[in-house]
Amino acid sequence: MFERIFVAATLIASTHAAFAQAPEAPGKPLPPGPMQAKVKAACTQCHNTTRIAEQHFSRVKWSDELDKMAGLGASVPDSERKDFLDYLTKNFGPQKGAPKATPKGAGPQ
Ligand code: HEC
Repeated sequence: MFERIFVAATLIASTHAAFAQAPEAPGKPLPPGPMQAKVKAACTQCHNTTRIAEQHFSRVKWSDELDKMAGLGASVPDSERKDFLDYLTKNFGPQKGAPKATPKGAGPQ
């Protein structure tokens, strides 16, 4: 009985931790580049880098995402918007980590 409660509590705690993502938690490292420091400064005030690094967005989607983040309070200067987009699309674009196409006839897995 006690064990069950313990397991449930541990599960809840770990699920919660996965979603909490405090900005000060290390998060996935941002790839190096001229924009690394700027993205880190502008984009890790509210969540850590994992929020960004786990995405595989197209340029258009990153552009929407920048609008969304700006709406939430992120500051991306107009003059640097293109550089943010370049960096994000290059490092977290659709091709990065995309699952390999299932060979024809392999069927659903
Ligand atoms: C003012 C706080 C704040 C800043 C600064 C901020 N974000 Fe966010 N971000 C959020 C919030 C809040 C969410 C969760 C939004 C939701 O659940 O709809 C989020 C979620 C995300 C997501 C996950 C997808 C989504 O829309 O939920 C990505 C990717 C992201 N942010 C990227 C960025 C990038 C890139 C920057 C820097 C340009 C940035 N964020 C700066 C608050 C912020």
